[in-house]
Amino acid sequence: MAQQTEDRADEATIRAIATAEAGRPGALMPILVAVQRRFGWLPPATVEIVADVLNVSRADVAGVASFYADFRIEPAGRLVVGVCRAEACQAAGGEALAAYAEERLGCGFGATAADGSATLDAVYCFGNCALAPAASVGGRLIGRASPERLDAAIRAETER
Ligand code: FES
Repeated sequence: MAQQTEDRADEATIRAIATAEAGRPGALMPILVAVQRRFGWLPPATVEIVADVLNVSRADVAGVASFYADFRIEPAGRLVVGVCRAEACQAAGGEALAAYAEERLGCGFGATAADGSATLDAVYCFGNCALAPAASVGGRLIGRASPERLDAAIRAETER
């Protein structure tokens, strides 16, 4: 019962977000961005509600939501860690950092640890190439990232 009430509240929030943006040209992307910012992912009701508000097909909304890797169609773990897999970071030791992140978090890229503690994202350039390799922990950018610095940032975030 509590879950149903929560789901209905979420659906009302999604509808309010979509309605507020619906008059803008190209409203679909800003709506999906706003929904994800609010929930941390795109809850399943998003596609139907946004399609209804914008008067487009569900396939149109689902196509955009699934095309862009930045949109999550499943909830993320409690901590989101990103490691840059692009060229400048690869050349600066990014592969070792990536391997460490997988081992430390207990999941591969694009996945969430079984206990829900963390999600590991591959990022293709943070725009921080001068300080490669780059990573992010809980949205905070780390330059010249090493396993030790990544570990310290993860501990700091999880102890908050
Ligand atoms: S290539 Fe990694 S931050 Fe640009």
